[in-house]
Amino acid sequence: MPKYNAIIMDHFQNPQNVGEFEDADGIGLEENPICGDKTQIWIRVHDDLITDIRFKTQGCAAAIATSSVCTVHAKGMALEEAKSLSPNDVANWAGGLPRAKIHCSVLAADALRSAISDYEKHPR
Ligand code: FES
Repeated sequence: MPKYNAIIMDHFQNPQNVGEFEDADGIGLEENPICGDKTQIWIRVHDDLITDIRFKTQGCAAAIATSSVCTVHAKGMALEEAKSLSPNDVANWAGGLPRAKIHCSVLAADALRSAISDYEKHPR
């Protein structure tokens, strides 16, 4: 396993916001076609804020940890702000990633954007 920082190790071993909502307002799925890892994110939205969020990731330690970190930061965030999040933002919240694992932070950022897009296309 690559050498990960304490934030990554903590979120890998104790991931936050794992699960799903049956009554989600938006759902997003992203898959890395090269490694096959995938992240799915469910959001609840009220007054243009992400009021709650869950995720499931099938993937490497960095993908699981960055998904967890992303959900912790996205909870309570305005949709407009969340839409502009980049994988770099997620990697920074996670305290940085080994160079070979930087791509792993893309899954959470893109799955979140996709969940917001799903909500905006199909307001429930
Ligand atoms: Fe696939 Fe990390 S190796 S997302």
